[in-house]
Amino acid sequence: MSQHHQYDVLVIGSGGAGLALALNLPEHLKVAVLSKGDLAGGSTYWAQGGVAAVLDDSDNIDSHVQDTLVAGAGLCHEDAVRFTVEHSRETIDWLIEQGVPFTRDDEHSRGQQGFAFHLTREGGHSHRRIIHAADATGAAIFTTLLERARQRPNIELLEQRVAVDLITERKLGGLGNRCLGAYVLDRRRGEVDTFAARFVVLATGGAAKVYLYTSNPDGTCGDGIAMAWRAGCRVGNLEFNQFHPTCLYHPQAKSFLITEAVRGEGGQLKLPNGERFMLRFDPRGELAPRDIVARAIDHEMKRLGIDCVYLDISHRPAEFIREHFPTIYERCLGFGIDITREPIPVVPAAHYTCGGVLVDHHGQTDVPGLYAIGETSFTGLHGANRLASNSLLECFVYARAAAADIVQQLPHSGVPRTLPGWDASQVTDSDEDVIIAHNWDELRRFMWDYVGIVRTSKRLQRAQHRVRLLLAEIDEFYSNYKVSRDLIELRNLALVADLMIRSAMLRHESRGLHYTLDYPETLSDARDTLLVPPAYRPV
Ligand code: FUM
Repeated sequence: MSQHHQYDVLVIGSGGAGLALALNLPEHLKVAVLSKGDLAGGSTYWAQGGVAAVLDDSDNIDSHVQDTLVAGAGLCHEDAVRFTVEHSRETIDWLIEQGVPFTRDDEHSRGQQGFAFHLTREGGHSHRRIIHAADATGAAIFTTLLERARQRPNIELLEQRVAVDLITERKLGGLGNRCLGAYVLDRRRGEVDTFAARFVVLATGGAAKVYLYTSNPDGTCGDGIAMAWRAGCRVGNLEFNQFHPTCLYHPQAKSFLITEAVRGEGGQLKLPNGERFMLRFDPRGELAPRDIVARAIDHEMKRLGIDCVYLDISHRPAEFIREHFPTIYERCLGFGIDITREPIPVVPAAHYTCGGVLVDHHGQTDVPGLYAIGETSFTGLHGANRLASNSLLECFVYARAAAADIVQQLPHSGVPRTLPGWDASQVTDSDEDVIIAHNWDELRRFMWDYVGIVRTSKRLQRAQHRVRLLLAEIDEFYSNYKVSRDLIELRNLALVADLMIRSAMLRHESRGLHYTLDYPETLSDARDTLLVPPAYRPV
């Protein structure tokens, strides 16, 4: 039997953004936080580098803003960048108050001037401004916030719950388009339940799983972006997919990132013959923005027909390496690579979705009552290329801003409505799940080959042709068979892939992360790519 639930706020996604939002809501509100699998399945847990913020007396807001604008290649919204950076200090203070064990700077903690925590450096930053917890910052933040959320009686953490779709007034035949809740598959019971809520927050992460090779955990399927699009939200700049330059290349290492902080602390990129090559591509060398480094590696791999390049930090003292990069040291050692003595084989992999659901400074989408935060959203911060470690900052700044906005909107939001249940009367159990597995593989393979680091118009056309066929097949399957996690994720991922391809086809230039051989120049006029869904209704 399917069930009906009512909450003040329904948060879809249990990563850093979702937990931070829930923790910033007042305790009299009844809040549900949904996780598709185990609570730790989101991307936050896997983030290594840290959070970029203006924390040291020698740094300043204008410098962080400027670095972000430079990396964003003309497409950042300066108001969003300034808003984010100006809130960086208070956001870090909040994380420290929650108890996040950031790595301390011994010199400063002994009472000298400056900030008490160690700040590292990453590509594109002109200052040391990344606060971190050794090389496992995401795990430290996530674990702390989860512990806090568990102590809050008003927050229910619900695992194994996969949101199928949002419920809006329009879908129920109404005139307005307020978001009223969501249909959610409870995987343990195999039933789709109805969650009514005064506010719904999408915090489902990005869509890097659309590519064959990714640094992301399994769940990053663009769920929030797809649900928002179907509900009537505009999406922006989805052609900008960030490829992290350095993921471990090893047959048994699935999706293991080698943090950019390794390059920040002096790591050098080398060819198999030991030659450094980054200075041939950019005067900033290994610390050029990610798009440049990823493209340089891709170029060298294709030119030389090699499977990987090498990242070498072995010239730094072994003690320093073990202290700053304990997770990477242990993981690589497990594969027989001692990073204190030898270089690490690395390749680029899909890492971050820079575009997403269009939101304002409060994370509010085009659909009243619906918010999007973190990687799901398109705030304008990242432009055509995200600056390293700005993503966790964005997660927490906008989670706090959205929570504050929800509190402001409470008096006007009414009570959760009684909503119709999920109609499963027309569907049966699938007898051909091989179709889902096959379509997953096909989608991720052609996105990698045709919509990857270097694109052409012909490749994009091929990808569009294939994705349209997949969408039709998936739609038919969805209409006839009971939903499962794999089917829901595939349906979302194929839709987001289509939106990415459409966005890429509309951009007749190369800019930031979108590089096409057919339009190698950057146009003087920098414009966002905004897509408007059929269900869009201007507020
Ligand atoms: O390289 C890294 O640690 C990743 C940081 C980021 O994606 O911001």
